[in-house]
Amino acid sequence: MHPMLTIAVKAARRAGGIINRASQNLDLLHVSKKSHSDFVSEVDGAAEEAIIKTILDTYPNHSILAEESGTQGDQEQPEFLWIIDPLDGTTNFLHGFPQYSVSIALMHKGVLNQAVIYDPTNDELFVASRGRGAYLNDRRIRVSKRTKLSDSLIGTGFPFRDFTHMDAYMAMFKDIAPRTVGIRRPGSAALDLAYVAAGRYDGFWEIGLAPWDIAAGCLLITEAGGLVGDLEGNETHIECGKIVAGNPKVFGQLLQVIAPHLTPELTSKSKTTN
Ligand code: IPD
Ligand code: CA
Ligand code: CA
Repeated sequence: MHPMLTIAVKAARRAGGIINRASQNLDLLHVSKKSHSDFVSEVDGAAEEAIIKTILDTYPNHSILAEESGTQGDQEQPEFLWIIDPLDGTTNFLHGFPQYSVSIALMHKGVLNQAVIYDPTNDELFVASRGRGAYLNDRRIRVSKRTKLSDSLIGTGFPFRDFTHMDAYMAMFKDIAPRTVGIRRPGSAALDLAYVAAGRYDGFWEIGLAPWDIAAGCLLITEAGGLVGDLEGNETHIECGKIVAGNPKVFGQLLQVIAPHLTPELTSKSKTTN
């Protein structure tokens, strides 16, 4: 295993331990609200601190972009940038709904290089290194082989905090749902992307994500033979947070169904985030 991936795995497992322990006593948690439907608990903070400490203890000069504590080190042109979501699916976690994950990605000179997504409830560890494939608990994973959207299980995330694109999203949903065998919305975008990489879903789309939700999942998918892009299939997804993913065939078919519903703000050219 690449030494930087080893550190990422160590960090993710530490965070997972903190999350699992806290899940035994949800009633004791202190929770605060960042904005409408946006909660953060002391577990998010503690898990993030453990991850950052693990990374910086070994690589003190690396840069950090983390959901709860923000940035550390050079963000303009960082040689190494770690992108961290310590607990993806906080709302699920707070409700005892066992679908959440730790997501850690490493970018080297702007290119995704290492990725870990860890599901502490099921002890499922998804990892990828650029050019080396994607793995779930040491077994190689690949995207599904289904060629038709009409045979596909599709994951998504619908708006629940920011409703700016609700109408466009619902129009996409209305068009996509009857063309598939089913749609799922479990509530952790990072884990959703890991599931695309593992072939559990054939495709996925969501609007309004942050880099820490998707960076690791994107590398997992491409290393598993899949494709990822924004709503037009272009490579702006990490910055803009609008994402379509899937095996190559289903990715193309999802883009076709989405295309008629794109408002100007949802195109690749739009500078707006989320
Ligand atoms: C959220 C989850 C969810 C997605 C949201 C994210 P958080 O992350 O990934 O599936 O729909 O947009 O913000 O806030 O629980 O880390
Ligand atoms: Ca998240
Ligand atoms: Ca989070």
